[in-house]
Amino acid sequence: MPGNPRFATLEGKIKNRSARIGIVGLGYVGLPLAVEFAQAGFRVTGIDVDERKVRSVNSGVSHIEDVSTSTLKALVGDGLVRAQSDYKGCGKLDAILIAVPTPLRKTKDPDISYIVASLDAIAPQVRPGQLIILESTTYPGTTEEVMRPVLEAGGLKVGRDIFLAFSPERVDPGNKLYQTKNTPKVVGGTTTWCTKAAALLYGQAIEHVHPVSSTQAAEMIKLLENTFRAVNIGLVNEIALMCEKLGLDVWEVIDGAATKPFGFMRFYPGPGIGGHCIPLDPHYLAWKLRTLNYSARFIELASEINGHMPEVVVRRTAALLNEAKKSVHGSKIFVLGVAYKKDTSDVRESPALDVIRLLQDEGAHVSFHDPYANAIRDEHGQVQKATALTAHNLKTADLVVIVTDHSVYDYPAIVKSARRVLDTRNATRNVKSGRGKIVKL
Ligand SMILES: NC(=O)c1ccc[n+]([C@@H]2O[C@H](COP(=O)([O-])OP(=O)(O)OC[C@H]3O[C@@H](n4cnc5c(N)ncnc54)[C@H](O)[C@@H]3O)[C@@H](O)[C@H]2O)c1
Repeated sequence: MPGNPRFATLEGKIKNRSARIGIVGLGYVGLPLAVEFAQAGFRVTGIDVDERKVRSVNSGVSHIEDVSTSTLKALVGDGLVRAQSDYKGCGKLDAILIAVPTPLRKTKDPDISYIVASLDAIAPQVRPGQLIILESTTYPGTTEEVMRPVLEAGGLKVGRDIFLAFSPERVDPGNKLYQTKNTPKVVGGTTTWCTKAAALLYGQAIEHVHPVSSTQAAEMIKLLENTFRAVNIGLVNEIALMCEKLGLDVWEVIDGAATKPFGFMRFYPGPGIGGHCIPLDPHYLAWKLRTLNYSARFIELASEINGHMPEVVVRRTAALLNEAKKSVHGSKIFVLGVAYKKDTSDVRESPALDVIRLLQDEGAHVSFHDPYANAIRDEHGQVQKATALTAHNLKTADLVVIVTDHSVYDYPAIVKSARRVLDTRNATRNVKSGRGKIVKL
């Protein structure tokens, strides 16, 4: 392969750490990434339209649990990390990594407007030798069909003058074992030079880089990963519904199946799925396939089953109240945990919000507690504040519903005080006394 002088220059800058890196979007993905590159010795500029996040980063205060304030403060103090709320000076950066949100519209169609907005701000400043990488989860074809034409509009050619790649972020907030650095990074470029440039950059900060043949393959890899989770959670939720009909304990069934040392992987049922990824990402794939006249049946089915789980929780709640000769209307229900998964504060798309809303719609008096979230906002913007986790508040509730299995909860104490507990996560599995009060999903 003949050489590429633009690549050679970028390679030199990356290797001697003089390459300047820009990270667009300082959220759950962008901030840990910025820290990782800064720790590898690069000067990193974070760009985020949210002024509060910019101020907080510049004062060294982390707004993401996986990044400690002491780490961030030291990097900001050393001049390795700084943030800004506009795109000024983008042309001076050598690599720009985009990690902005990719939500769904109400119709469940992809909303790539954040990617487009950041691209529109970057494109007029793009210069030869720059490397642009998209990290946001999106449908196969986005990098090639949406980004490439915008970046080439000024006459620069991808693969010759500038480099373009997709590298899916795999961050698992709250995971103590796998973080940005030790989670392998998949990289797919538009051309071989693009893949080489992106792989070289990530290789400086991330332990293992896995190059693939195209941006589309890299986009699809991320969607396979998240569709795999969504479908398997959908399957195990349906198994839970089957076990309920059969009078079986789904948790015992899963534990038993998991004794098989091969060919089985544990997934757990629960009140539904949440967060920025699992409920949304598979719909990016389903949407793309619809444009090709193909129906992504597993995705639709899993979405239907998972999306129905909050109603299952409400049905089980009603049944338990009924046993106590009570109606949902007028009952006091105390929900424990509103984050979509344990040990995080992330309430985005959390099934707890649906459970609370559905119970309130039925006339229940619902209070909640979460060690990491002290307020929630409903779809009308109405804020509800958390209630203290006291023995009194547990005792006076007609039913305590465990929606998120945070590790810091003292489950024996909760069960001791509560009159009745609906445990949607088997969080009380090790509670010995008062088991008669507990009903599992
Ligand atoms: N959170 C996760 O666990 C996770 C895991 C893997 C992949 N992803 C994907 O990574 C992407 C980012 O997710 P996230 O969780 O970090 O989102 P986030 O909401 O935490 O952060 C995104 C940030 O982008 C900023 N932003 C929005 N528009 C902007 C613009 N035009 N210019 C500059 N900044 C802008 C927002 O203010 C926000 O701070 C998404 O595509 C998501 O699907 C997320």
